[in-house]
This record gives sequence, C-alpha cells and structure tokens, in this order.
Amino acid sequence: MEWTSRGIIVSALLLLALGSSIAKVEEEDPEYWRAQARQALKATLSRKTNTNVAKNVILFLGDGMSITTITASRILKGQLQNQSGEDSVMTMDTFPSVGLIKTYSVDFQIPDSAATATAYLCGVKTNLNTLGVNAAVRNGVCKSQKGNEVTSILKWAKDSGKSVGVVTTTRVQHATPATTYAHSASRKWYSDADLPASAKRDGCTDIAAQLINNTDIDVIIGGGRKYMTPRGTKDPEYPWDFLSRGKRQDGRNLIDEWQQKKIGKVAHYVWNRTDFDAVDPETTDYLMALFEPGDLRFEADRDPKMDPSIVETTEKAIRILQKNKNGFFLLVEGGRIDQAHHDGRGYMALHETVAFDYAIAKALELTKEEETLTVVTADHSQPFIFNGYPFRGQSILGKSPLWAMDFKPYTTLMYGSGPGHKKVNGSRPDLRDVDTSKETLNSIYT
Ligand SMILES: *[C@@H]1O[C@H](CO)[C@@H](O)[C@H](O)[C@H]1NC(C)=O
Ligand SMILES: *[C@@H]1O[C@H](CO)[C@@H](O)[C@H](O)[C@H]1NC(C)=O
Ligand SMILES: *[C@@H]1O[C@H](CO)[C@@H](O)[C@H](O)[C@H]1NC(C)=O
Ligand SMILES: *[C@@H]1O[C@H](CO)[C@@H](O)[C@H](O)[C@H]1NC(C)=O
Repeated sequence: MEWTSRGIIVSALLLLALGSSIAKVEEEDPEYWRAQARQALKATLSRKTNTNVAKNVILFLGDGMSITTITASRILKGQLQNQSGEDSVMTMDTFPSVGLIKTYSVDFQIPDSAATATAYLCGVKTNLNTLGVNAAVRNGVCKSQKGNEVTSILKWAKDSGKSVGVVTTTRVQHATPATTYAHSASRKWYSDADLPASAKRDGCTDIAAQLINNTDIDVIIGGGRKYMTPRGTKDPEYPWDFLSRGKRQDGRNLIDEWQQKKIGKVAHYVWNRTDFDAVDPETTDYLMALFEPGDLRFEADRDPKMDPSIVETTEKAIRILQKNKNGFFLLVEGGRIDQAHHDGRGYMALHETVAFDYAIAKALELTKEEETLTVVTADHSQPFIFNGYPFRGQSILGKSPLWAMDFKPYTTLMYGSGPGHKKVNGSRPDLRDVDTSKETLNSIYT
C-alpha cells in the first residue's frame, strides 16, 4: 500500500507539472471565459423560436450513442483535426434545444433498440425485442401479434403525401430501420429462415418480406442483401463466402420483386459505390442500396472504393426525397455505434459517431431550418465510461497518467461490462507498453 500511494503522489506531481504547460495563454485571462459566456447568452436570448409547421423531418438516431459517447467523440473529432479536442464543437452541439428522455421499455429497465424504436417512431412504449407492435405482444410469440400492430411516423408521412426514406449503417432489416415499416413479435425474424415453425403456421411474415410489402419507401440505404435472396444465392461482392449467401427458404428474390413493383418508375437497385455514384437524384424516384450482405463495415474499416460513407448516403437520400413539394421524412441511423460498444471497441464506436456528426452537418447544409425539423437523438446508453485524470489534449483513446492501486495505468475509456471489462486471472492487463490509441483497445482485454 505504501508503494502504491507513493506511486500516486509521484504521478500526481508529474500531472501538475505537465498539466500546467498545456493551457493556452489566453485561457489564463478571466475575460476570455466571460466573453464566451456573454456571447453564448446573447445568442440564446436573441434566438427566435421557430413555430413553423415542419414540411420535412429528419431524425438522426445514434444507436447506443450515450452522452459519454458524444463527449468522447467530440474530443476525437477535434483530435483528428490536430486540436486538443475538449473545446471542439460537434454539429449536434449547435442545436438550439436539448432534452432528455426516459428510455425504459414496458418490461425492462434497460431497453433494446426494437422497443425504443417503437417508442420514438410509433409513439408507443412496448416490450423488449418486439417492434412495430404494442405491449400486448409477447417477445417471439407470433400468435400475440395479430391486431396489435402500431404504425410509424414514416407511414404517417407517406400517407400524407410526403416522400420517405431510411438510411442506416446496419442491415436495413435491423431493429431500428425495421420499425419504420415492419411489425414483428421478434426483431430477429430478418428472413423467413429466421421464423420458427409456429410463427409461420400462425401467419407471421419476416421483416425483409415486409420491407417490400408494407409502406412504399422511396429510399432504402444500408446493408442486408442476404435476407433478400433465395438460400444459397452467391453474393455479388463475396461470391466465395458461404456465410454471405442468400438465406431465404421460400425461394423469393425480394430485390427482383421490388424492381418488378417499380416498373414505370425510375427505380435503381445498387450494391456498390460505382452504381451508387451513377444514381442521379434529379431523375430518380426510388433507390434501394444494399452495400453488404449484412451490416455495413465500420467506418474505420470501410473500403471507400466499394462503399460510400454515411455522409454520402445521407446526401443522396435527401437529394432524392426533397424533390417532393409536400416534403419528406428521413430516418438516418448511426447503427453501428452500438454494435461497436457491444464488442468493447471504443475506437470503432467513436469513429462511427464522428462520421454520424458529419452526416448531420451535411443534412443541415442541404435543408432550410424554416421548413425542416432535424432531431438528433439516441435510443439507449451503453456501459461506456470516461474516467481518471487524463491531461487536456491527451489522446481520448489513451491511458491515465496516474496509475491505479495495482500500479498499472488504465485507459481513459472503459466498459462496465462486455469484452472490455474482462480481467485475466483476476488482474487487469498491464497496459504500460500497449498503444491503446489503435483499434486494439478491445483486444487488450480479450
Ligand atoms: C495532423 O497532423 C498529422 C501529423 O503531423 C498530419 O499528417 C495530418 O495531416 C494533420 N491533420 C490535419 C487535419 O491537420
Ligand atoms: C402484404 O401486406 C398486406 C397488407 O398490407 C397483407 O394482407 C398481405 O398478406 C401481405 N403479403 C405478404 C406476402 O406478406
Ligand atoms: C457494381 O455493380 C454492378 C451491377 O451489378 C456491376 O456491373 C459492377 O461490376 C459492380 N462494380 C464493382 C466495382 O464491383
Ligand atoms: C492464467 O493462469 C493460469 C494458471 O496459473 C496460466 O496457465 C495461464 O496462462 C494464465 N493466463 C494468462 C492469460 O495469463
């Protein structure tokens, strides 16, 4: 114990010594801070409340994008620009109104993306793992579904003559995007191969089939090709990969069926960047873009020659949808923020969030605030924490300058559960010689 506390004292002195050298000179002047506060107050007080009825609604949903995720991503965004990062501003930070919501589902304290999507898209809290249905429906029980469907804002928008679209970084049949168009007692019923025999017998249909049969969606962008094609169909991008092959047992090719339904309209199905770039939004009525067999790659792993970024997909969607003089509804999901967190991959989660923020900036650039309501929110949090006493300007993916009681440094970002939480043989990994700023943040612990 004696050594440990001495170690802490030594590093605390080091912290003070180094910490003080990082401040910018102007920050030592009280007027620097007071002027900023005055300016912020003045801007807020002079802002006129926009009471217009929104013609367009864009809902940006960062899946699992907790407040800690936003703070850490803000710092990363600045650091990627070679700034210290703490005082950087995300586009989502510039919105005039902020609110907090309770995210519990009808049956769980901590909800999942299906129950939460039903809450914010359909306006109805429901049970875990169910989507587009009310709380009378039991998870996985098809029989309880009939008559308990609830509709979403995407359908309301379409019914009122607006164009509608969904952009995601996951498969388009995943919980969040699926809730805009489907009703399912289980979020896992991606294709008919995922439906249990009882569900088929009781007349439930899979989410992919509902994608082309329910609300007529103008723009659908994400991943999820394999749920659309007959079992064994080779994937065009990964023809050698068995796991990427078509999953459907009913032999239907939903991509072909979608194209058939659109005869007489300008409708494009694309699965790669070349064809995506060739889609002219001015002349396009419908676009279905499925860039991967399942979820898209993480932004940090994306092959820009094959797949566009969320910024580009958001832009294409808006340009197609905004031709409708009645307006549009668009859901843009940063869906893999959550998936990265599930795997304890902080590096990936933060890069996903930074890309998501750039997509928000693009949307604001392409629309007018007087007629467009843009909302940015998350569906639930993640056990992702930000701790210790890292120096100002230190890599957000770095380590504490202070060591813990076990005489080892710890990462600034940590997970309270999942792979990033693991101890090996009852003790924490020794990070002294590990570069935590790279993708390896997760593998340190697994
Ligand atoms: C940040 O600095 C690195 C290394 O000096 C440089 O390669 C990179 O281009 C810089 N990035 C920006 C956005 O200025
Ligand atoms: C398509 O949806 C309609 C109701 O909108 C339903 O009656 C029909 O059974 C569905 N067809 C398929 C193949 O899912
Ligand atoms: C993109 O998809 C089209 C249509 O399937 C195909 O002809 C083209 O070769 C693909 N491009 C690449 C780079 O794979
Ligand atoms: C954990 O302890 C066991 C038994 O001492 C040892 O065989 C094993 O290699 C240790 N694992 C790690 C990852 O250090």
